[in-house]
Amino acid sequence: MRGLRSVGILSTGSYTPERVLTNADLEKMVDTSDEWVVTRTGIRERRISAPEQASSDLALEAAKIALEKAQVRPGELDMIIVATVTPDMMFPSTACILQDKLGAAKAAAMDVSAACTGFLYGITTASQFIANGLYRYVLVVGVECLSKITDYTDRNTCVLFGDGAGAALLGPVEQGMGFLAFDLGADGSGGPLLSLPGGGSRLPASSETVEQRQHYISMAGSEVFKFAVKVMNSATEAVLEKAGISKEEIDLMVPHQANRRIIDAAVKRFGLSEEKVVINLDRYGNMSSASIPVALDEAIEAGRLKEGDNVVLVGFGGGLTWGAALCKWSTREAKE
Ligand code: ACO
Repeated sequence: MRGLRSVGILSTGSYTPERVLTNADLEKMVDTSDEWVVTRTGIRERRISAPEQASSDLALEAAKIALEKAQVRPGELDMIIVATVTPDMMFPSTACILQDKLGAAKAAAMDVSAACTGFLYGITTASQFIANGLYRYVLVVGVECLSKITDYTDRNTCVLFGDGAGAALLGPVEQGMGFLAFDLGADGSGGPLLSLPGGGSRLPASSETVEQRQHYISMAGSEVFKFAVKVMNSATEAVLEKAGISKEEIDLMVPHQANRRIIDAAVKRFGLSEEKVVINLDRYGNMSSASIPVALDEAIEAGRLKEGDNVVLVGFGGGLTWGAALCKWSTREAKE
């Protein structure tokens, strides 16, 4: 990394919609029970966006908070990366829509599509631009309105998902601080296990695709579960090894919030105590690319992170994809 700048997260922000959908509400919609959902997933409730809210609206709220905390003006942003599988529309990108809403006139803007791993793909990409000196401030937002692509007649999926947005402002930090290692991966052969088949160039939207419910998330739950447990471990091990840090030195893990049992498996594997793991899926369900940044923001607000802590962000998702980042925590911007 000689000659490259160290990059860290200078600030974060999060936003979740007001409307709460509880397990009791879902009991009235599909054949399920609070007991089943809590035991199998750990989820108790999730947030649902209003009919007039799209992903860029949620992203805007989270982004404004992150910028305010860092005292960075939208006009100072060099780039905006939005990770989402629920863009406002096929194009323009949600990042471009957000750039306009923020008034970030000089920022380049693009979306990243890596499902629940999207935020990790986003921060890894953003870091390269800052490390090599091309950009100073890159805003990365993970945002989803999953309720808009969830089939509320399918009990296999509708109990899992929720809406929200988390933003992180990345910039240069003191040498040796910030991100120490990244690990990204993909196995495209597992794509059909988790997909939204309709509405693309393979199956353009038609009355048939609507009738066949192809505009909703389709998921092979137990296969995804097994894959998730495996890659959460291997991705975490990869960043520990790259950074030369032992599992005992992890101060905080912020895992993707898909299922409590998946997180518990990772916690056991790395011998982490409860206070070293951030879990908020009981209140939000799986918010895909927003899960990690919202959980990180809540951990920061709760005072769970201090300068120099080793933080592991780790997740998996559709694609199939996975990723992890290890960060020596510092929000102190390097002045040049
Ligand atoms: N209520 C009651 N019963 C249910 C429900 C429900 N909500 N959902 C499924 N069941 C039933 C099934 O029909 C099945 O019944 P059967 O045996 O009679 O067929 C039974 O429960 C067991 O189903 P499994 O799929 O084996 O249950 P499992 O223990 O694997 O839990 C779950 C299912 C929660 C979906 C789990 O597999 C999981 O969390 N998988 C990972 C999903 C995930 O992480 N996706 C992330 C990515 S999302 C993205 O990228 C957008």
